[in-house]
Amino acid sequence: MAKENLIKAKKSKKDEFYTQLVDIEKELEHYKEYFKDKIVFCNCDDPFESNFFKYFAMNFNYLGLKKLICTSYDNSPIAYSQLSFLEDVQATAIPNNNRKAYKIEISEVLDYNNDGAVDLADVEYLLKNDKNSLCLLKGNGDFRSDECIELLKECDIVVTNPPFSLFREYIAQLIEYDKKFIIIGNMNAITYKEIFTLIKKNKLWAGFGFNLSMIYKSVYDNTLEANKKFVKSKGFDPNDNYIKVPAVNWYTNLKIKKHYEELICYKKYTIDEYPEYDNYPAINVDKVSDIPYDYEGEMGVPITFIDKYNPEQFEIVGQGQGNLYRELTPKGLTKKFVDDYYKFGGKGSIKEDHPVLAYYDKNGKPVIPYMRIVIKRRKK
Ligand SMILES: C[S@@+](CC[C@H](N)C(=O)[O-])C[C@H]1O[C@@H](n2cnc3c(N)ncnc32)[C@H](O)[C@@H]1O
Repeated sequence: MAKENLIKAKKSKKDEFYTQLVDIEKELEHYKEYFKDKIVFCNCDDPFESNFFKYFAMNFNYLGLKKLICTSYDNSPIAYSQLSFLEDVQATAIPNNNRKAYKIEISEVLDYNNDGAVDLADVEYLLKNDKNSLCLLKGNGDFRSDECIELLKECDIVVTNPPFSLFREYIAQLIEYDKKFIIIGNMNAITYKEIFTLIKKNKLWAGFGFNLSMIYKSVYDNTLEANKKFVKSKGFDPNDNYIKVPAVNWYTNLKIKKHYEELICYKKYTIDEYPEYDNYPAINVDKVSDIPYDYEGEMGVPITFIDKYNPEQFEIVGQGQGNLYRELTPKGLTKKFVDDYYKFGGKGSIKEDHPVLAYYDKNGKPVIPYMRIVIKRRKK
């Protein structure tokens, strides 16, 4: 059921998964140096429920932020449940509020209770400071609306978990306005034409958290036993709409050190272990850790390679399956390969010329590996 709910959520463009503070903290601890004197914009974040708002408000002085802007998107089904302390502030700031979209701008966070630290108690007083404001937006808070685009232009870095269903458009807008960003997306996003092209051009990288099983607070029921068990094992209550979402990645265009660390390869190339594709001159590598250190030609590797991608060490040549396959090669599967594939009990529906890299293993069995990226070692 939870799986169905997630599929339903995707199909019906429901995007209500709320990131937990601990997950935000874990990622953002790596980026402190980028925030000094910067304007941060969280543009899919109801300040009354978003832990992104909470994180930046609490760490405003620690990070040395110039300003924090958050905008919400119309009514949110779980408004108040995470940051209920702001309820009173909201009631005063937006009287007779029917929960339309609003914007919060924070330019100063003082240590109101004089304990030397800025904590939630101080954040509570934020809006009593003239330098900070909360007001209704004119429109519905869509990140594509003119008023949100004006805020986007003003900011330096966008940090959020955007709606899954609009991920492509969301990134395209950030690129169009030449903004730095740290955002959450799913693993498959790597294979989207728009995203893959950015990765290939070295304009977007995987952040630190990669292939995470993230537990979100959501508005969808969690009734899948395995999912519930996982959620419970991490100390959350699945009956309270906590749901595990697998294969979650952070994405950024900030030059993080991680991508300039060399991937240490320790395996030697052998013709037996690394078969060449039947329809493209590259070898197949099943695990990123198996990339041979002594192979200079092209290699098909799993998409999780992106986590370890160092653009100075490797070049991304293309996609071994999907939208961009034909840019790699015009050759799909041969008729012989398709016949052999079914002879060996292969499943699914594949046809001659199907755009996917495939090979015969050392026992002569036809294999179509899951989503490969083709890479090549750069010459030293
Ligand atoms: C995956 S949730 C994440 C919420 C929040 N950023 C967080 O991490 O907790 C995506 C949010 O984007 C909002 N949203 C959906 N479509 C939007 C749009 N066109 N413009 C702005 N926000 C949108 C949804 O209401 C939802 O709250």
